Amino acid sequence: MARLTGKTALVTGSTQGIGAACALRLAADGADVVLNGRDPKQPPQELLDRFQALGRKAVYLAADIGGAAGAAGLVEQAVQALGRLDILVNNAGVERRADFWDVTEADYDLVMDTNVKGMFFCTQAFVRHRKAAGQPGAVVNLSSVHEEIAFPHFASYCASKGALRMLTRNLAGELAPLGIRINNVAPGAIATPINQRLLETPSLLEPLLARIPLGRLGTPEDVAGLVAFLASDEAAYVTGSTYFVDGGLTYSYSEQ
Ligand SMILES: NC(=O)c1ccc[n+]([C@@H]2O[C@H](COP(=O)([O-])OP(=O)(O)OC[C@H]3O[C@@H](n4cnc5c(N)ncnc54)[C@H](O)[C@@H]3O)[C@@H](O)[C@H]2O)c1
Repeated sequence: MARLTGKTALVTGSTQGIGAACALRLAADGADVVLNGRDPKQPPQELLDRFQALGRKAVYLAADIGGAAGAAGLVEQAVQALGRLDILVNNAGVERRADFWDVTEADYDLVMDTNVKGMFFCTQAFVRHRKAAGQPGAVVNLSSVHEEIAFPHFASYCASKGALRMLTRNLAGELAPLGIRINNVAPGAIATPINQRLLETPSLLEPLLARIPLGRLGTPEDVAGLVAFLASDEAAYVTGSTYFVDGGLTYSYSEQ
């Protein structure tokens, strides 16, 4: 029996990139899944067909998780669509590049609302649901190596991912008595649309590759494997920590 057989999961921001790979991997491991994007008019039909091919149920729900009402509403609709939720993957995230002295309030709010407020209130709604059901659960947050490594010109992004590190540590203790585990996955440089500028600019890409001990960018599937493990009962004794999936980047240093 696959390790997530009989489980149900919500992955936020899952129409592309890491979120889509996580949803597919959870389904390959046996889970039924709610996909989330912001566009109510365009369900990701090609992606939805891939779940059918896996023999799993997948439902698309449009919602903007960057506010408490949208986040809670999405979780409540996901519970209705699948009957219950065992797993929440807080994946939706954005970044905005600017010199610190040029950052606008609108961009600051977008990054913090999506990356922190969205995670906070999706998780709160998930916990309320699990608590009311008297059932355990697993939360996995897509953080970043930038919860640890400074990244000049991305101050709000780094602040948001640093907030996820502390929220996860804090909530691990508060949620453990409910049987709910929570962990962060911290990707390094992964080939997805969020990195379009990097992927298209050899002068940025080449020095970065030289700093990654495994010598390549990660794939969304590299990240999804770790997410599925943390969401499963195989990780039953794992909570409150961050797991890096970065080809060795974070703790690498070289003068050659
Ligand atoms: N790609 C990387 O190198 C990398 C590295 C570290 C961390 N991450 C993190 O992984 C996560 C996924 O990133 P990705 O690389 O797949 O990026 P991506 O841009 O391809 O995907 C992000 C998804 O989130 C959705 N989203 C954004 N705001 C939303 C909102 N308010 N409500 C609902 N959905 C929303 C987007 O529509 C998109 O589908 C993010 O949290 C990102 O910070 C990515």
